[in-house]
This record gives sequence, structure tokens and C-alpha cells, in this order.
Amino acid sequence: MKNIIAGFFVLLTVGLMAWVASNGGAFNGGEAGKITEDINIKTTSPTKDNRPKEKSDREKESEALNALRDKAGNVGAFKVSDEYKSKCSSCHGVDGSGMQYGKKLMGPKLFGQSATVLYKKLDDFKAGRKENMIMKGLLIHLSQDDLKRLSEEIGEFPARKKVLEDSKK
Ligand code: HEC
Repeated sequence: MKNIIAGFFVLLTVGLMAWVASNGGAFNGGEAGKITEDINIKTTSPTKDNRPKEKSDREKESEALNALRDKAGNVGAFKVSDEYKSKCSSCHGVDGSGMQYGKKLMGPKLFGQSATVLYKKLDDFKAGRKENMIMKGLLIHLSQDDLKRLSEEIGEFPARKKVLEDSKK
């Protein structure tokens, strides 16, 4: 009889332990469940969990970047030339809406400016009539024809966007 009672209590204890573990936190506050989870992650993928802080920083970073992209318009809202994409979009946005990183302005909005106006501005940078180290450094390697082609392309952005929006309707 004693053995049966003892066995019953052992079962009860084990049962309770299992229940607490599976409910994680019912008895010990929310932390318990979290700790069990952490342990699980550690045992299953130690490398992934070694730098949880860095990972969440990276997540924050990518969220910030996504927000930036959203603000700059849809990614790939319309097709742009590889030239624009590789040389200009990192600062002016994939569709020329301009880019801001936190409070820092990466590049002003180009979208909506006419090809003529854009060309004039680019030419001014290149010739040094308008001072800007970044733009000047960039444009030094571009010919007048390159400037013209880029201006014409950017000047077309609003029309491209309209075509794309119409096609979605
Ligand atoms: C590294 C970042 C960066 C890149 C890359 C860049 N720009 Fe800029 N751009 C700027 C900044 C910053 C300004 C603002 C300069 C100022 O007003 O003094 C600017 C200004 C301009 C302006 C004048 C806008 C206005 O309304 O005054 C034009 C046009 C322009 N960029 C076109 C381009 C083109 C075309 C390319 C690609 C060949 C390009 N930019 C690449 C940073 C960049």
C-alpha cells in the first residue's frame, strides 16, 4: 500500500513538472516560458542564438530600410535603367522620390522634375557652378551625353509611374 501511495506521488510530481514546463510561466511568471524557449533555441541552433542582440539590431535595421523603401515608393515600382539604379538610386530612391536616413538627407527628390531642369542642375554640379562634393565627384566620370540620358530618364519617371498605375487598374 505504501509503495502505491509513494508511486502515486512520484507520478503526480512528474506530471506537475511536465505541466509547468509545457505551460511555461503559469507558476513562475512570464519569464519561465521565455527561458524554456531560449533553452530550446540554444539546444537546437546554438549559432543562431549566440548573438540575439545583433540579430534584433539587424532586424531593426532592415525594418528601417524597408520603411525607407516604402517611403521612396514601391520597390521596383517601375523599371529604371541599370545606370540609374546603380549610380543614383542609393541616394535618390528607386523612383527618384528622394531618400532620408533618420534625419540625414541622402538625396533630394528628383521625381517630378523635368528633364530640362534636371540636366541644368546636373550640368551645374559638374561644371562646379553649384557646389556639392558628392554630386560633383559622381558626375566627373559622366559625359554630357550621360547627363542628358539620365535627365531624360528621370524626367520620365512620373509618366512611367502613371503607366504602371493605369496597368494595375
Ligand atoms: C551618394 C549620394 C548620391 C548619389 C549616389 C547621387 N546623388 Fe544626386 N544628390 C545628392 C545630394 C546630397 C544632393 C543635394 C546636393 C545639394 O543640393 O547641394 C543631390 C542632388 C542632385 C540633383 C539636384 C536636385 C535638386 O532638386 O536640387 C540632381 C538632379 C541629382 N542629384 C541627380 C543625380 C543623379 C542623376 C545621380 C546618378 C548619376 C545622382 N544624383 C547620384 C546625393 C547623391
